[in-house]
Formats: sequence, structure tokens, C-alpha cells
Amino acid sequence: MRAIYLIGFMGSGKTTVSQELGRRLNVAVYDSDEEIVKRTGKSINEIFAADGEEKFRLLESEVLRSMPSNDAVIATGGGIIGSEENRRYLKEKVNVVYLHADLENILERLKDDNSRPLLRKDKMKTAESLYMNRLPLYREAAGIEIDTSEKTIQQIVDGIIQRMKK
Ligand code: S3P
Repeated sequence: MRAIYLIGFMGSGKTTVSQELGRRLNVAVYDSDEEIVKRTGKSINEIFAADGEEKFRLLESEVLRSMPSNDAVIATGGGIIGSEENRRYLKEKVNVVYLHADLENILERLKDDNSRPLLRKDKMKTAESLYMNRLPLYREAAGIEIDTSEKTIQQIVDGIIQRMKK
């Protein structure tokens, strides 16, 4: 099976969906943030604080390209589509799935979350503006869009399995 890349905003459920999808398809699951942490020995927050966002984005692009092309589910960080090269890279893959969630849902899910370095200041306003800027970029990079609103994880995973190319 060709690798499945999950893209979408912070809080769109990529990590949870990747775990369940990997279990259903019986393939390995990767997470670009986790790979970065493994390779650098630093947390995402530490990288942002000590090395800056630019360094983080370089690591993220490197990790994306090192992921297996087959028999894998790959959850990516919400900002992976910020780079034009990454969008181009993803567009050439057959199974890039954008997990769409409404802004309202995203804000609700991120409300009490303090783990994301980009949302340290003015969380709601920053999240909203990032969301608006990124929405077209997710759509540009993905061949498959799944609307996650009012769906269970099982329904989302079923939807991906139906639409993925083997
Ligand atoms: C980011 C999303 C995070 C993580 C980093 C930056 C972003 O991943 O990569 O904090 O720019 O949207 P999640 O989408 O898994 O939260």
C-alpha cells in the first residue's frame, strides 16, 4: 500500500486518526513531530525556544522526505504545508488526506491546550489567522479531503480507507 499522509490544522485529530488507521491497515504509524524529537533529543517547545521556528521547519521538511513511501501512515505537523516545496512534494503522493475541521471546532479543541509553541500569545486570534491562511494550502496539497465534523474516529478512518488508493 502507498503511504498515507495526514495533514490538517493543530487539533484536527491527525494523531488519533493515524493510530486507528495504522491499526486497521496493520501498518507502521509515524508522526513528524515525534521523529523530530527522536532525532534531536529535544522537545518541540525546546526547539522553537532554543533554535527558532526556521530550524524546526528545516527539520520537519527533512523528516517528511525520510518517511517510508509504502506501508505506513504518517501524521504530519499542522505547519508542514507552509513550505511550497513540501506542498509540491505532497501533491505528488497519491494518499494525502486533509482532515478538515471547522474553525469553531478547532478553537474549542485548542482552548485549554498549552502545548503548542505557536499559540503561546493571543491563542485564539493567532489560531484563527493561521487557520485562514492555511486552509487553501491544505486543500492545495491534499488529494483527499475528509470533513471530520460530527464524525467518530471510526467513521473518519472508514472514509479514508474507502477513498485511499492501494
Ligand atoms: C505546528 C503544529 C504542531 C507542531 C508545531 C507547529 C503548526 O503539530 O508541529 O507545534 O505550525 O501548526 P500538530 O499539528 O500535531 O499540533
